[in-house]
Amino acid sequence: MKKVLIVDDERPILEILDLSLSSEGYEVLTAENGEKALEIFEKQRPKLVLTDIKMPGIDGIEVLQRIKKIDDQVEVIVITGHGDLNTAVAALKYGASDFVTKPLRDEVLMVAIERAWKKIAMSEQLQNYTKNLELKSEQYKRALQKAQDEMIKAERLASIGETVASLAHCLKNISTGLGGGMYMVHTGMAKEKPNMIEEGWSMFQRNLERVSDLVLDLLRYARQTEPQRTPCKLNDIVSEVMSIFKKYADDNRIKLNKVLAPNLTEVYIELDSIHRMLGHLVSNAIDACIYDADISKKWEVTVTTKTETDADSGEIILIEVTDNGCGMTDEIKSHLFHRFFTTKAGRGIGLGLLITQKIIRDHGGEVFIKSEFGKGTTVLVRLPAKVHEDYSQTFSDNGKTPTTNSEWK
Ligand SMILES: Nc1ncnc2c1ncn2[C@@H]1O[C@H](COP(=O)(O)OP(=O)(O)O)[C@@H](O)[C@H]1O
Ligand SMILES: [Mg+2]
Repeated sequence: MKKVLIVDDERPILEILDLSLSSEGYEVLTAENGEKALEIFEKQRPKLVLTDIKMPGIDGIEVLQRIKKIDDQVEVIVITGHGDLNTAVAALKYGASDFVTKPLRDEVLMVAIERAWKKIAMSEQLQNYTKNLELKSEQYKRALQKAQDEMIKAERLASIGETVASLAHCLKNISTGLGGGMYMVHTGMAKEKPNMIEEGWSMFQRNLERVSDLVLDLLRYARQTEPQRTPCKLNDIVSEVMSIFKKYADDNRIKLNKVLAPNLTEVYIELDSIHRMLGHLVSNAIDACIYDADISKKWEVTVTTKTETDADSGEIILIEVTDNGCGMTDEIKSHLFHRFFTTKAGRGIGLGLLITQKIIRDHGGEVFIKSEFGKGTTVLVRLPAKVHEDYSQTFSDNGKTPTTNSEWK
């Protein structure tokens, strides 16, 4: 029922109003003074209050102010003396929704009350909408979060499944190589064919190396920690890696060149990782020459170190590994940096470039690849050279996220 509180110090007015509002279907509460009115208001919480202004003790304006302080959604209509416009304006300022003047006329009063009640109904409706909206949006948010979590879970599972399948495929290739090598050694021994034994043995060894390479690469790929940096001479690392590949290159008629920047500053890097990364790039370059169909070419692999100054990051060290081998088709380029992507059936693992990218990103750098099918490839590594005491901070907080598609034009 619609509850209305009427406050007036004149008992007859209270009685008349009680009567006429009750007959209109309102539940009427009455108070003869401000104190009583506030007491009833606290207990009954009517949505509409009709109060006389002039009363002894707490007057109408104060009743209005105190009620509005308790609940500013309550509609208060003030009853003013005839011609007392100033009080009416003051009451409106304090938040009264309307005013009626004495002597009270039933129809005027009813219009004011109905108008106030419409406002109450509207604001209640609005409140319900808002509450509903909040509830709904909370529900949507929760549903969305749930869907997102499920998606991430599904993606993670799919990605684990994909990795395991590729890994299993890679291990199967290696074990076929190991089996093939053993078979050749056995047959060579049975048939007393030293060539076959030698070939089988080298096949066996090559596949054993692939196992250890795979383990090392997987460990490096899975590692989440910051690089353990020490001051290193990059040119020395390049020279060492090149010397390791010298015989392999010579055996395949490939010339190895190095063009090293003189007086290269010491850089804070993780030696093992950069060594391994360079090993991957040089072995890829040599493989590209070996896989090149154009045997008239004089194959060369060149490793260059340079420095450059970048406006944002300061001094940058550039390492370029260039070959004039088979190059890459667009199809191959689109799969670079994918786990276990290799075109070297029975020999590759397909983690070299991915690990190169991870190592360089962990060092705050970037990797770019430029390649032309039949002409050759250049892999460019950009590393920040700045040597700071607080180098891990400097390198990990530089805010630069290298692009995934690291092809440079
Ligand atoms: N220098 C290069 N020239 C031509 N193709 C390359 C070169 N480097 C990488 N690739 C291509 O990228 C693929 C992935 O390389 P990588 O991740 O090192 O794996 P893997 O060497 O085990 O195949 C190679 O199989 C090859 O097709
Ligand atoms: Mg490789």
